[in-house]
Formats: sequence, structure tokens, C-alpha cells
Amino acid sequence: MRLLSQATCKSEILTGDCLEYLPALNGVRLLFADPPNNIGINYGAGSRADKLPLAEYLAWFGQWIQAAVRTLTDDGSLWLMVPPDYAEHFAWMLNRAGLTRVDWIIWHETFGQHRTKRFSKTSRFIFWYAKDARNYVFNRDDLRVPSDRQLKYRDKRAHPAGKVPGNVWTIPRVCGKHAERIPGVPTQLPLALLRRARAQAGRAAQVWGQKRQHGYARDAGARGTTAAVRVDAAEDGRVDRSC
Ligand SMILES: C[S@@+](CC[C@H](N)C(=O)[O-])C[C@H]1O[C@@H](n2cnc3c(N)ncnc32)[C@H](O)[C@@H]1O
Repeated sequence: MRLLSQATCKSEILTGDCLEYLPALNGVRLLFADPPNNIGINYGAGSRADKLPLAEYLAWFGQWIQAAVRTLTDDGSLWLMVPPDYAEHFAWMLNRAGLTRVDWIIWHETFGQHRTKRFSKTSRFIFWYAKDARNYVFNRDDLRVPSDRQLKYRDKRAHPAGKVPGNVWTIPRVCGKHAERIPGVPTQLPLALLRRARAQAGRAAQVWGQKRQHGYARDAGARGTTAAVRVDAAEDGRVDRSC
């Protein structure tokens, strides 16, 4: 495990194997995980390391979920960007780890991937699970977006700060020519998506790191989307994780 940077006392970037650094953390209110999808991407250890037999992949998943749950505060949440080919396994595993589902969010990616013998792939699941379903944080005022009542209907009943968004999030995925695209990071997530997830908890602590030796993580978390949002959260003063 390596502390990559400590820009302010509120922002730390750790790199390494999650099974190594998760046990060293505690008091995490929001943990956003975008784990390897087991589709053969080379993160530095070769593409076969991301193409494990199902049982092995799920066993590893179970291990880090257990470690992740132990880091959470009593009002903490685990968000999982669901690896698409295994979605049916993960809800069960998260329940078995003692978490309760708050929401399944559908990320509508707008700019989808064309497939010849199936519908084009234009959405993904994001699972939001809480440690305690009666005691989790929901910073609704940090999440508000302009509503149709405000913009379209000029309805006086509209909340002046906008509405709480629905659980279908329409956010373009990061394509090759997008301004925020980081060259060589094929699994980059849009900042808008991470920012919204982070706003749920307010005092967020992001934790899915990147292995130091991994290919596109050469200068690691500093370039990863999740890490960027963590730093960004610290900079705008909304993260309050004492150090
Ligand atoms: C699907 S990608 C997510 C990247 C993320 N969306 C971002 O932009 O930062 C999966 C990430 O998990 C990292 N990874 C793979 N195995 C890991 C492990 N055992 N511990 C920590 N990170 C790991 C990979 O290096 C890769 O960065």
C-alpha cells in the first residue's frame, strides 16, 4: 500500500491491492467501487489476470466486499458499478455481507455501443447498498437538479432549488474525443456520475484504488476518475474526513 499524495489533510490517494489497504481504513461513509469487470483488460498484470474462472472471480469479489463492509461507518454506503456480465451474482453477495439495498440506479449512457445481434448497449447498473437501511445519509439538497416544473411549466409549486433526481441517470459515457478523456484509460467513468454519487453522502470517502503496478495506473489514482472526484470533493470543501 502506498500513500500517493496528501494534497490537503482532507485528501489522500492510496494505491495498492484493495485487500491490503481496505483493512487499514475505517470510518468510511461512502465507498464507490468500480472493480475489474473480468473481461480481459490489461491493467498491468496481463489480460489473463482480468479473465478469471467464474468461481475465482466471485471468491475474490466476496473477499473485498467483506473487507469493504468492515470499513463503513454505521451510516455508511457501498456503491458498486456493477460488472455487466455478473450482475445477478452481486446483489446476493452484497446481501450476504450484511448490506441492504437502498437503490439500483440505471446509468443511461446515451452514447451506446452498437451490437449486431442484440440491442445496443446503452445502460449499466449501479447498486447502492447501506450498512443500515434505517440509518443512512441522503443529502438531498446537494443532489437537486432543475425540474420540468421550474423550466417547462413555470409552476409556482416547483422547489426553487430543483428536484431530487430519479434513479435513471442520463449521463454520456466518456468517449474517445470527449474533453475529459484520459488517454489510455479505457474504463474511465464520467466525473458527473461520480460527483452525483459522492453528493449522496456529503462527507464522502472514496476508496477504489488502482494497483500501482497496473498499466494505465502508472501515475495511478491521480489520473483515475474516482480519485479525481475524491480530490475535487476535498478541494470544494465538502469532504470532512478528519486526518
Ligand atoms: C474497471 S477499472 C475502474 C477504473 C475507474 N473507473 C477510474 O477511472 O479510476 C478497475 C480498476 O481496478 C484496479 N484494480 C484491479 N485489481 C485491483 C486490486 N486488487 N486492488 C485495487 N485495485 C485493483 C485496476 O487497476 C483498475 O484501475
